Amino acid sequence: MKIIKSKKYAIAVLSSLTILVGMQTLSAQNARIKIDVDRTIGEVDKNIYGNFVEHLGRCVYGGIYEENSPLSDENGIRLDVLDAVKELNVSITRYPGGNFVSNYNWKDGIGPKDDRPARMELAWSRLESNHFGTDEFMAYAKRMGTEPYFSVNMGTGTIKEAQEWVEYCNVKSGPYYAELRKKNGHEEPYNIKYWSLGNEMDGFWQMGHLNAEDYSKKAREAAKLMKLTSPEIKLIAAGSSNYRPNADPNEWNEKVLHELRDVIDYLALHMYVGNVENNYYNFVSSPLVLEERTRVVKGLIDREMENADRGNRPPIYIAWDEYNIWYRARGEETMAGTKALEERYNLEDALVISGFLNAFIRNADIVKMANMAQLVNVIAPIFTSEKGMFKQTIFYPIQLFANNVKGTSLDVHVDCETYDTGEFFIGLGESTTIQKDVPFLDVSATYNNGEVIVCVMNRNKDKAITTDLLCQEGIFDGEFEVYEINGSDIKSENDFGKTSVETKKKSSLKVKKTDKITYDFPAHSFTMIKGSIVK
Ligand code: AHR
Ligand code: AHR
Repeated sequence: MKIIKSKKYAIAVLSSLTILVGMQTLSAQNARIKIDVDRTIGEVDKNIYGNFVEHLGRCVYGGIYEENSPLSDENGIRLDVLDAVKELNVSITRYPGGNFVSNYNWKDGIGPKDDRPARMELAWSRLESNHFGTDEFMAYAKRMGTEPYFSVNMGTGTIKEAQEWVEYCNVKSGPYYAELRKKNGHEEPYNIKYWSLGNEMDGFWQMGHLNAEDYSKKAREAAKLMKLTSPEIKLIAAGSSNYRPNADPNEWNEKVLHELRDVIDYLALHMYVGNVENNYYNFVSSPLVLEERTRVVKGLIDREMENADRGNRPPIYIAWDEYNIWYRARGEETMAGTKALEERYNLEDALVISGFLNAFIRNADIVKMANMAQLVNVIAPIFTSEKGMFKQTIFYPIQLFANNVKGTSLDVHVDCETYDTGEFFIGLGESTTIQKDVPFLDVSATYNNGEVIVCVMNRNKDKAITTDLLCQEGIFDGEFEVYEINGSDIKSENDFGKTSVETKKKSSLKVKKTDKITYDFPAHSFTMIKGSIVK
């Protein structure tokens, strides 16, 4: 890592160096975050606080659902897990996959449990009992208080199966599958609004993988049947997930956007990052790569929107419907079976998640959905055993954001030291990248009915950063709440019975009509500051 300062900053620093008489210390100018409630980016969509439940490892079985466990109710729902899930205030939950969906027939997962066929699950090498399916998930979503988001099988599945699933879920009565739902004890339709047209269809690993042209054709025809069945649904197309060296993710995005520009509502993008080379500074810069990819895809969308025929529907938005840190559980023994993808998270991972969430806020005009992958056990914020559960470090940033950050995203100006990374692997299998001018302070701000929320991740591993928060329009006034996620070490982890990293409420800042609050953001921390701006 090479620490540099912008020229502008260096001049400002030189002119403001003060020598404190007697103390022989130099104090440089503070970092600055300028908050201007008139400079807005867009409305924060609550669907950026989404999550994902896939039939994979112990996410469903042994995670949210465990038959005959003393911790479960009579429906097999793990109540300890449900309580923790509710704290995350998950706005929208994607189901049932993931790679799983590309070999899933939804019809296997309905009706009396004893009559459901067990199947070979080829994506993650398990036996799928099908004891948990559409109706169980919908009951769970209701208890979670989350919006359901279903993904149809565009791999081994047909457009007819996709249509029939929409019929089962959304048609009130009359046709066969609507009546079948009623016969299965669910009189009212579920009216599921969000449906994705397959998962990661650009990936060679996907069962039934297609090229962009064939995918677009199949997705368009599936969309036609699904919309004829339930006209109000919103459709999400599979965008790029393959950023390996010889893939061309934006060629895929361009083609799919061009072919489906009149049809879809969102383009789904996926990203997993990892501290592959155990380099903290490289790793904590990785959410900026997501931001770069967002900007590129936004450009492609803008171009297609010029000639699209969408009536009065809004433009296509981006759904980051899988994002997380995933690099440890990628070995032979951790990729399949019942222990698949059981990543254990530490403080630096929690910081990276806060960076992703800040990036979604900073791109609130185009990112209108995001889903952490996944909810329980599988690369997840909640980890269970047969005897209990604990909250992983990454639980805390999503909990803080989802319960607080809403309203209008502000275009903040940040002036602080920066660094450049060396060349590094952002995720397993991906190409390398170099990040220039990475600010030590990663910042987002939102404004909602007179309340401002500033979210700051301090990437500096060793030093607190003294920062002036400057209000450009109106003034700060009253009590400002402060929440911090931190730990003694960047590698601190939580475990059963051990919480090293969590959110701590700090003493509030009592502010009297001022346009400046000075705060020391501690080394390797995430801080949320919340209070009022009066005009
Ligand atoms: O979330 C784990 C897997 O990652 C999903 O099944 C797949 O869509 C992605 O590759
Ligand atoms: O591990 C296989 C694939 O690699 C995942 O499904 C994808 O997200 C990643 O790029």
